[in-house]
Amino acid sequence: MPTIHYILKDGSTRSIDAKPGSSVMENAVRNNVRGIDAECGGCCSCATCHVYVDDAFVALLPPADDMENDLLDGVASERQPCSRLSCQITMTAELDGITVRVPETQI
Ligand code: FES
Repeated sequence: MPTIHYILKDGSTRSIDAKPGSSVMENAVRNNVRGIDAECGGCCSCATCHVYVDDAFVALLPPADDMENDLLDGVASERQPCSRLSCQITMTAELDGITVRVPETQI
């Protein structure tokens, strides 16, 4: 199973084996990764699942669609070029080892 590494606000890392087809957000919520609130449950309407994706993996992701892009404009922590909504990142074997950093705040 592909692994996701979450870098938490305190600098520690949580590594979770993800089922292909599941999202980076779902794996965080299921495993109590702190700092990914995901208030809308993954229907791309809250922007509280914001993460910073490691540069090595940004190009492997499909580009954000218009809805995700609009929500990213309103995230609580600064939007960066590597900002994505973790509910929109679907795990595949190719994404094995993806590293995402949790932002300072989601609200
Ligand atoms: Fe709400 Fe991702 S969980 S936008």
